[in-house]
This record gives sequence, structure tokens and C-alpha cells, in this order.
Amino acid sequence: MIAFGIMTLTPDSEATYLTEIARLAKKFDIECFWFIPSQINPYSQQVKGKRFDSLTNQWVDGDFPIPSVLYDRCFYGDDDHSKQCLPIVSWLKNRNDITFLGYGLPNKLELYESLKDSILSPYLPVSVFVSDSEMVFQELEARRKIVLKPINGSQGHGIYYIKKNDNSFHVKTEKQKQIISRIFPNKLKLLRWLKPLIQAKKYLLQPYLELYDQSLQPFDIRILLQKNEQGIWTERGRGIRTGTMGGILSNLSAGGIVKNFTEWADTLPPTTAEYIRSELNYILNHLPLLLESKFLPLFEIGVDIGIAKNGSIWILDLNSKPGRKVILQTAPEMKETLIHAPLLYAKHLLGLEQQERKSFYAKTLSH
Ligand SMILES: Nc1ncnc2c1ncn2[C@@H]1O[C@H](COP(=O)(O)OP(=O)(O)O)[C@@H](O)[C@H]1O
Ligand SMILES: [Mg+2]
Repeated sequence: MIAFGIMTLTPDSEATYLTEIARLAKKFDIECFWFIPSQINPYSQQVKGKRFDSLTNQWVDGDFPIPSVLYDRCFYGDDDHSKQCLPIVSWLKNRNDITFLGYGLPNKLELYESLKDSILSPYLPVSVFVSDSEMVFQELEARRKIVLKPINGSQGHGIYYIKKNDNSFHVKTEKQKQIISRIFPNKLKLLRWLKPLIQAKKYLLQPYLELYDQSLQPFDIRILLQKNEQGIWTERGRGIRTGTMGGILSNLSAGGIVKNFTEWADTLPPTTAEYIRSELNYILNHLPLLLESKFLPLFEIGVDIGIAKNGSIWILDLNSKPGRKVILQTAPEMKETLIHAPLLYAKHLLGLEQQERKSFYAKTLSH
């Protein structure tokens, strides 16, 4: 039996998905555990979490050793609990006796720095760290429209669009599915708002890209890539996420809706659709291996691609803990594949480890 551990930050995070995985585990000879990183006792190295009982088909409280394969589904914020769990997860990642399905990706700025000289650089919006408010004004002078986003952000939280008019400045953001729009009559007024914002959190600055459709709704393409049971990167599906008219975000958590990719592509002139498809294929063929050459191994990646009004194609965001909503809504028949995937990949990883160990012993024996 393989001991397969799932880690989340709260006891109910993604409960349906994780319980579906646990229900199927037994047929692959896998036992599932579910815990919060802070539930590991550092002295005894025992975990106080939940074990899935395949007889009653329920999670039951239990004490167990740290499972040998871990599926990390922790979504960190700025809160104390996240700050407590992060170093525990880093410590786990450094242990040789534990294998993570995927080791995650760094923040948006580090990602940009690592990929900006790669073959995918033409698809990356130029991103700079916001070191002070003066550089924001310089960029506004040069580009007129910019975007600020937290370097550790996700789900569209805290993203700001800023536009410079002749004297005034227009700031737009989305909060709780509402568009919030403000005009600052002069530089000083904007500065009073901007300074505390960039002091509270680290931001990156990008040119504002016109990623909206004919009805002025922002949209992007979300693609889910996963490794299959042979460890080969596979596309599980793609969909179009569309946000609020006049807004800036296409994230589903910000109120976006999902459309079928093929139906959307069929509304485009055939040559445009063909161009977009071939560009996407180019990006998706290179991206996973490129990321794994720069960082540690991954199991799944959610890729956000933006298409600007002028036809340019942009890699907006890469998520190592992607959601499955876009795929489930556009291709519900994929549900079982998506639930099997972490289990099958865990089996593949352990099989591989055994093989590696065997070949290591074979080598040492021959010496
Ligand atoms: N440079 C940009 N110009 C215009 N819109 C953007 C830009 N960057 C991001 N967006 C919009 O904001 C959304 C969220 O940005 P993203 O970088 O994916 O951050 P998050 O991690 O919060 O999802 C994108 O899906 C896109 O709709
Ligand atoms: Mg995103």
C-alpha cells in the first residue's frame, strides 16, 4: 500500500475533490491521508490528521507517520496560519524520504525573471518590481496604462489598472465581484493612495494589455496540463474565462464565466483561429519542460493565456495548484480522469523511485 497524503491549510478546503480521490484510491492499492502541515508533531514526526477508511468510505481522525507521497493543495495568504505552515512544507520538500507530486512554482516576479530570456520570452508581459512610487509615475508617463499586481497574488485579488489622463489618474480594481473605479485629480492625491498600497505588499508592474472582447468583457484562455500515468505532460482541456463588462479580471473567483474553447474559436475567422491554435501549441509544447528545467518537478500547471485586441498572445499567469472548474464545466466527461490523475501519477513516481533505487543497487553491486 502506498501512503498518499493530501495537505491543505483548512480542514474543509476542496473537500469534494479530495474525498473523490480518496474513494478511488483503494483500487490502486493506495491509502489516503489528509492533514494540515501544522498537524505534524516535529518531535514524534507523527501527524494528527484524517485517514480515509475504505470500509465505511469516510474520513476518520487518526495518528500516522508522514505519508511517503504528498499532494500539496495549500493556498497561502498573508495570514499567520499560512506563515506557520510555509516553512513546514519547505522542510518536507527537503526530505529525501518524501516525494511531492509537484514542488510548486516561485512567485510571479521570480517566474518572470527565470523565463524572460527563454524561447517563451516574446509571450511574457514585461514585469518589473515596484520599488517606489516614483517608478510607477515614470511608467505611467511612458505607457499611460499599467497594471499593478501582488507578486504573490492569486484569484485576481488586489490587481489595479491605472491610467494617466492629462492631469488626473484613473484607478480601477475589482473587489467582491464589483468594479471599483476612482479618479485622482492630481499626482499628489494618487501618491497618497499609492504609497501605503505598495508599502503593505510587494507588487509588480506590467503594461496594461487590452485583453477584452467585442462586448468589452475581459477574457482569457485557461489550459490545464497534467502529467499522465507515464509521467508525460498531457493537456486535459482548455476553456475561455470571461469577466465583467468594463472590468479587468477574467478569474472565475472574480465572477468570470466559462465558455467552450472550440465554440469560441469557431466564431473567429478561420485563419485567426488557426493562428491562435498553433501559437498555443507552441507555448504548451515548451512550457512544462522549460519550467521543470528551471525549477523542481511539477505534476500539474494551470496556464492563463491572454489575447489582446491587436492579436498578440500573452502568458499571463502560471499556477502550480490549478483549479479544475474550467475543465469540469466545459468537458464534464473529464471528471474521472481528473480524479484518477494524482493517484496514477503517485504510482508512477513510486515505481520510478524503485527503478532508480534498483539501478543504483545494480551499479553499486557491479563496482
Ligand atoms: N497586464 C495585464 N493587462 C490586462 N489585464 C491583465 C494583465 N494581467 C492580468 N490581467 C487580468 O487579470 C487576471 C488575473 O491576473 P493574473 O496575473 O492571472 O493574477 P492571479 O494570480 O490573481 O490570477 C488575468 O486573468 C487577466 O484577466
Ligand atoms: Mg491567474
